[in-house]
Amino acid sequence: MNELKPCYPVSDKAKAHTHLDAATYDAMYKQSIEQPEVFWGEQAEKFIDWYQPWDEVSKVDLKNSEINWFSGGKLNVSYNCIDRHLATKANDTAIIFEGDDPSDDLKVTYQELHDHVCRFANLLKERGVKKGDRVCIYMPMIPEVGYAMLACARIGAIHSVVFGGFSTESIKARILDADCQVVITADESVRGGKRIPLKSNVDAAIADCPNVHSVIVVTRTGGDIAWNEKVDINYSEAVENLSAVCEPEVMDAEDPLFILYTSGSTGTPKGVVHTCGGYILYAAMTHKYVFDYKEGEVYWCTADAGWITGHSYIFYGPLANGATTLVFEGVPTYPDAGRFWQVCEKHSVNVFYTAPTAIRALMSVGDELVEKADLSSLRLLGTVGEPINPEAWHWYYEVVGKSNCPIVDTWWQTETGGILITSLPGAVDMKPGAAGKPFFGVQPALFDKDGNTLEGENQGLLVMTASWPGQLRTVYGDHNRFYQTYLSQYPGNYFTGDGAKRDEDGFYWITGRVDDVLNVSGHRLGTAEIESALVLHPAVAEAAVVGYPHEIKGQGVYCYVTLMGNASESDELNTELKEFVAKELGRFAKPDYIQWAPGLPKTRSGKIMRRILRKIAENEVDSLGDTSTLADPSVVENLISQRIVHG
Ligand code: WT7
Repeated sequence: MNELKPCYPVSDKAKAHTHLDAATYDAMYKQSIEQPEVFWGEQAEKFIDWYQPWDEVSKVDLKNSEINWFSGGKLNVSYNCIDRHLATKANDTAIIFEGDDPSDDLKVTYQELHDHVCRFANLLKERGVKKGDRVCIYMPMIPEVGYAMLACARIGAIHSVVFGGFSTESIKARILDADCQVVITADESVRGGKRIPLKSNVDAAIADCPNVHSVIVVTRTGGDIAWNEKVDINYSEAVENLSAVCEPEVMDAEDPLFILYTSGSTGTPKGVVHTCGGYILYAAMTHKYVFDYKEGEVYWCTADAGWITGHSYIFYGPLANGATTLVFEGVPTYPDAGRFWQVCEKHSVNVFYTAPTAIRALMSVGDELVEKADLSSLRLLGTVGEPINPEAWHWYYEVVGKSNCPIVDTWWQTETGGILITSLPGAVDMKPGAAGKPFFGVQPALFDKDGNTLEGENQGLLVMTASWPGQLRTVYGDHNRFYQTYLSQYPGNYFTGDGAKRDEDGFYWITGRVDDVLNVSGHRLGTAEIESALVLHPAVAEAAVVGYPHEIKGQGVYCYVTLMGNASESDELNTELKEFVAKELGRFAKPDYIQWAPGLPKTRSGKIMRRILRKIAENEVDSLGDTSTLADPSVVENLISQRIVHG
């Protein structure tokens, strides 16, 4: 590997961007900040088809948790993602499906997408679903997950996609929180050759959801499932005789499009609400500019539809731009760790967008599988989810991209709807490990704890001092929680929960969460959620969970558990508790380590000192910091001596 360079000017060779150069970026950025109404008004006309223009481009008062973009404007998101392309692209491929099994694939044209979505929308209507109703979607990564989302958008129903890796308990909590009355699922999903029983998870979840009256079941594997005639509907049979025409519902720009649950530092996951107009504009525009999307190209984002990345950059953004988007059902390591590269070759992928955790995992198996594939179609690479370490960046750039493909590192969140900070190839240099510069209209700032603005080269808390169209509008059913979580800390500003550094060139380097949120393999997990799951187990009296640096996953989950007086420590119980968390929350949340803790380090007022627990989990026991406020210092000595030393 070549010497690690701190900055890659966009060389001619790697210059992919035809939409932007540095001067254009600067001019557009300047206009987006100085004349936001003019800027966003023009973009909204350019990117989106409206039935009726808006009254006002934006009406935002962050101090009072009020965010409106394009209100009064009328549109339909599914129309924008499908119908308007039909005149020129009816026979172009909208979705390339690549199954878990490499022999299983399918192409869906825009006309076919239209017909599937309309039939699905008509089925939802037949089941009584109306504008504003919530629909839960718990699906494998198959085209039908996209049909389901777009069908909801078509009739104005609000979808709540629940990641297929979540457990029964997590599905139940999400169905109840949004009072979803219809659930869309599949018999089973297949990942890495293994089947996952989606329908039976839904059956167990809805046993406690009395308002669910319909479960629409897509057949994926044909595996055995229980069937309840009163509730269950076989998708393919039900849509067979339904019309492939369904007029799109005329929606206000500020009508909700979807809810997506995400973890925070406290309490249960929050239902982040995105609305139609601002969200689809922001998703479409960032997809075009950040990925330099060009007509006819094949674009592949490896995320799952259950996360915001799947919403914005597998379905909504690409389809709004009339792109060909690849939907991948499988995992990076099946049948072998060359799968990503084989799929890139097979479908001549031009733009490839994945997570650092996947890059690190594939890097660890060596270059051979990459080199075996013909990756000459690749033109631009992207990463998302966590900071990318320079070693992984260089491997991605040199071995995967052959030093010919710029890399866009994209920083954003479920709450931001789309990418806020990124390198823009052609316009902004690439610095391995830096997220980059703000997208148009985005105004990041660094604050100290007291809310003072830190100027120039500095490090602090990352906030946004102004709204952008893709910003979340509320937390479903709890507008006060929206305010408390994001807007109360620094009145008039959106607090991201991340820390960041700004360098001498104005590039932002994300340093990670500053709250009790973990990022495990790009999945966001609240430590409080894992703790709540642990204490549900009868043997557990108390639990404290922290993250530690993990070579592949970014962060690992380290738990301290205090047992009930009548329970005793054993390896069996240790394993059982890990499985218990996996069952309560989903496998991706399974703890890496559980350390028995006869006591937890607390202040005299009873607050757990997580800072100390983090240091012990990180094996940095010589730098515990100030321990003078501990109620009982001997607790810490015990934890240090019993700590699990990992590689
Ligand atoms: C958190 C948001 C947005 C899609 C995936 C995750 C971290 C995200 C980056 C990046 C450094 C990143 C942040 C953020 N994060 N992208 N490019 N560089 N950190 O969405 O589950 O809402 O998580 O992921 O900590 O706050 P999410």
